[in-house]
Amino acid sequence: MGVGDTEARKEAHLRLTMDGPVQEPVSEGFAAYRLEHNALPELDLEAVDLSTTFLGKRLRAPLLISGMTGGAQRAREINRHLAAAAQETGIGFSVGSQRAALERADLRSTYEVRDVAPDILLLANLGAVQLRRGYGLDQCRAAVEMIGADGLALHLNAVQEGLQAGGDTTFAGLAERIGAICRDLGQPIVAKEVGWGISGAVAARLAALGVGAIDVQGAGGTSWARVEGLRAPTDRLRTAADAFAGWGIPTPDCIVQVRTACPTMPIVAGGGIRNGVDIAKALALGADVAGVAHPFLEPATRTVQAVVDRIEQFTFELRLAMFATGSADLAALRRVPVQRRGMLPTSRP
Ligand SMILES: Cc1cc2nc3c(=O)[nH]c(=O)nc-3n(C[C@H](O)[C@H](O)[C@H](O)COP(=O)(O)O)c2cc1C
Repeated sequence: MGVGDTEARKEAHLRLTMDGPVQEPVSEGFAAYRLEHNALPELDLEAVDLSTTFLGKRLRAPLLISGMTGGAQRAREINRHLAAAAQETGIGFSVGSQRAALERADLRSTYEVRDVAPDILLLANLGAVQLRRGYGLDQCRAAVEMIGADGLALHLNAVQEGLQAGGDTTFAGLAERIGAICRDLGQPIVAKEVGWGISGAVAARLAALGVGAIDVQGAGGTSWARVEGLRAPTDRLRTAADAFAGWGIPTPDCIVQVRTACPTMPIVAGGGIRNGVDIAKALALGADVAGVAHPFLEPATRTVQAVVDRIEQFTFELRLAMFATGSADLAALRRVPVQRRGMLPTSRP
């Protein structure tokens, strides 16, 4: 697939994810869980401490803006708005896949954000399958150096590639190549899905390969089956995209599985996080930070302030959820009991 195609695909992804019906119903996700309410928290709302350290960087709240874009001219402004807002609010940020800029140097500026975000936790991003398509340590290093990143997210998107005409579906032998990059890059690798989720078994395999963090990106938010279905060039791909609309491991289940399989692994919870209560539930289930993509896209097409407002909405809700569970800090939040709903009969016989 040529780079011109890549740029057109990026534009289509932006347009379709913003305007198309591509969100999974959340009923199977965080809505199924409840944090135990504490009527007597014995702490002040303003005293709740949201700060944490992730991949060696201090964050003012346990939140990352997940990788979305780059490689198209419209994407430059979006990335700069997102990064500047992350700088102002003290959270992390990842650019979208940098393949386009590795293949066309004039697109590099669509990813460069360090001038507006000198201090943030910043992640580079590449599709892991490119490691089977001629990419290796040099390209991974170039992606990190291009933006002055603190680590590299390698995304795993087997279903998405399978639903694209001419997608990269050569996943055999990929684990070994991921392991080689983990060994040689000298920066942490974050293994990341894009909305179908990472299971406990896959997480254990990735941990053995040496990844520095797992970003579960489970089902319940943006559905790439729906996105690819909207732009499918053939009936076969469109029909298959419909069949995969509900595919994947719901994000809360991923968190529980990965935390059980890898007790000390840094975990990002992503896929369908839509407010600060979802973040609180994700952390109580075992995640270290939350990753959010789609909710930040529309504000990022407007202004830095619009993104800051959305981030502050999330952090206000997280603060309130911590207050209402009596959690003075994130360590206390992780001890709050989580109940799975639906255990009680919904109607009397
Ligand atoms: C417009 C758009 C583009 C995306 N592009 C990438 C990408 O290049 N690399 C990647 O790892 N994930 C990409 N993603 C996936 C997100 O990082 C995230 O895993 C997914 O959208 C689920 O999170 P959400 O439900 O909060 O949107 C993209 C998401 C969106 C909405």
